[in-house]
Amino acid sequence: MSLPNPHGGKLVSAYNPSYNLAVVQKEVAIDNIAYSDLELIGVGLFSPLEGFLGSQDYESVVETMRLANGTVWSIPVTLPVSAETASGLEVGETVKLSYEGEAVGVITISELYEPDLSKEAREVYKTEELAHPGVKRLFERGNVYVAGKVTLIKKSDKGVASDVWFEPEKTRALFEEKGWKTVVGFQTRNPVHRAHEYIQKAALETVDGLFLNPLVGETKSDDIPADIRLESYRVLLDNYYPKERVQLGVYPAAMRYAGPREAIFHAIARKNFGCTHFIVGRDHAGVGDYYGTYDAQYIFSNFTEEELGIKPLFFEHSFYCNACEGMASDKTCPHGKEDRVILSGTKVRELLRAGELPPSTFSRKEVVEVLIKGLKDKATV
Ligand code: ADX
Repeated sequence: MSLPNPHGGKLVSAYNPSYNLAVVQKEVAIDNIAYSDLELIGVGLFSPLEGFLGSQDYESVVETMRLANGTVWSIPVTLPVSAETASGLEVGETVKLSYEGEAVGVITISELYEPDLSKEAREVYKTEELAHPGVKRLFERGNVYVAGKVTLIKKSDKGVASDVWFEPEKTRALFEEKGWKTVVGFQTRNPVHRAHEYIQKAALETVDGLFLNPLVGETKSDDIPADIRLESYRVLLDNYYPKERVQLGVYPAAMRYAGPREAIFHAIARKNFGCTHFIVGRDHAGVGDYYGTYDAQYIFSNFTEEELGIKPLFFEHSFYCNACEGMASDKTCPHGKEDRVILSGTKVRELLRAGELPPSTFSRKEVVEVLIKGLKDKATV
């Protein structure tokens, strides 16, 4: 095997820091999600997208999980603005995209259109309930979409993650340098608990390298902040993983919480990073009870391996079993609930915020210590 081609054939590169902004008059303010999308288009992580989706691609993605030309694409990447902002824009013009007052990119507008947000919510998120964080954001962000090719002019400040942010061209070079022919990508928005470690290492038994690729873009407010998580990943990797077989690198995208659809989207981005395999466990990218435990695995059967170009590795719900005296899953453990150490994400966050240790069979002590200290420090800032 060798590293996969980028999705759609080649890595998009739409970054130009010396773009002449003097000739661009109008300006549209964008939020941090749009900035993140702009940047990830610009550096090729969302290849083959070269800009924010036009209505034909948008409708096709919403209805069929494919771009209009048939390429697999499961989540619309769009630039929403208010009707008022849209009324000042015209097709054909190039406008600055500014984030917190600074121009960070430009878009050449190919189309302005009104999406059917309810339909997008139903198809992509499988619910219109505002209690769903992705749906809430969808309805809050504006009801006119601005489409067009973009140029990224300024890359965002990655803060504490700057030494673990590698653009896809770089990760591909890193994997090649290490001589990895097969690389499994691991998405997470959480600290790495025992179950995560178990499925990562199970995958590592069959592939050459693990790309631990935590999402560090916008998440819901009760998720553990990215800087604290990063510290916990470093401690865990230093102590329990073979250095030469693991690469840590962040995925600075916004979390959509779109469950199954997002699993496909996550896999495509990891393919662009150069991964050959991608882990999908239980309730991948899910929130609340909106998706079935394994829906994010079943959705892969809609696509052939060739058109996806990255192989999903599926894992059942894993846990520590006191009777087995080890990590296990429904597939390998014959014991009942009473022997299994299973804590919900909400419960764990509650414990950590209260400064209480979850059992070491759930999460390693070194990880928990970093999390408790990090959360405590934040609370006192
Ligand atoms: S996600 O929203 O980023 O997908 P999370 O960080 O919880 O959530 O999960 C990261 C990956 O590990 C996902 O593929 C998820 O399905 C998987 N996963 C998380 N917990 C378990 C578990 N206990 N058993 C099996 N897979 C799990």
